[in-house]
Amino acid sequence: MPAAGSISEKRRMAATSNGKTPAAFQRALLRWYDAQRRDLPWRKTRDPYRIWLSEIMLQQTRVAAVLEHYRIFLERFPSIEALASASEADVLAAWSGLGYYRRARRLRQCAQQIVEQYKGSFPQNSEALLPLPGIGRYTAAAIASIVFGEPVAVVDGNVERVLRRLIGGTLTTRQVWEHAQAFLDRSRPGDFNQAMMELGATVCVPREPRCLACPARKWCVTRGVEVRRAKPAVHQQKKAVWCALDWREGNGGGNGKVRLVQRPRKAALMAGMWELPQSSAPPRTSRTAAPWRKFRHTITVTSYTVHVLRNKQIGNLLLPDDRFAAKGKWIGLDRIQQLPITGLTRKILKASGMI
Ligand code: ADE
Repeated sequence: MPAAGSISEKRRMAATSNGKTPAAFQRALLRWYDAQRRDLPWRKTRDPYRIWLSEIMLQQTRVAAVLEHYRIFLERFPSIEALASASEADVLAAWSGLGYYRRARRLRQCAQQIVEQYKGSFPQNSEALLPLPGIGRYTAAAIASIVFGEPVAVVDGNVERVLRRLIGGTLTTRQVWEHAQAFLDRSRPGDFNQAMMELGATVCVPREPRCLACPARKWCVTRGVEVRRAKPAVHQQKKAVWCALDWREGNGGGNGKVRLVQRPRKAALMAGMWELPQSSAPPRTSRTAAPWRKFRHTITVTSYTVHVLRNKQIGNLLLPDDRFAAKGKWIGLDRIQQLPITGLTRKILKASGMI
């Protein structure tokens, strides 16, 4: 940490300004946001249903991956009532490909609670939003500030990085939230929160931050060096998996079918979802079975190499995993989009041109 009186220490004092809200910083950030912000569909509305949906989808998921799902989800469930009355399988189907499926289950539970308890209108402040299923401190503050103009700060991973760099030193998580609240522009809290997130997502990025393009560089103590909390190292695991893409043509060549199996309802991950039969062990065969295609697929901290086998190969193979041997069900390709299928299965079916 720099000594008191050094240039960095002066900048730190200027940034936090003895606890006063740094008005020049707020102006610079909002000016930048107004000019540079990405044109995203959830920025064109103040409808709480749409804002809430975008915030839940954006958790742990990149904007690019959310865009298409957001559009399709809203076509399918245009209102909170439509979502509340949908079956869990239908909601999971529309969520398929976004991962972290617990979010989708909680989303539906939350919609049901809002319809039953609040007649379909969202509670209008962060404190009242917080007890709802799937809504934590971040989501409550995001909805309350963006939709209802409540002056509450949000801290997600991007905002946390921006603040740690801006302020320097070692901060506890609690201090990060306190600084976020102290920096907040109370006249435009929703825009300010989104500007902080946008800065972290597009400029103050984890590696090689674009400090020259940063509207906050005048106030930044570290100039792009991230001051990290000691975190337990997360080790990326590598695994292989073999999948059977077992496919039949329909009558007259149209509307084919593919064999899918359903994951156990009590599985820790992606419970009850449908997927291609798969095995975690390689095929036992006298012939070499070169896969039809190989994919990389990541689920949380595990990176999978996926070997996809097609019809003829499958016939010759003996795969050791029970799930692979499971008969499964033949599902018409026209029904697939209504079924909750896993992200990996969606990826393979898309690559094969089946959906
Ligand atoms: N990440 C999550 N929500 C966001 C938002 N509203 N703007 C920018 N980034 C986000």
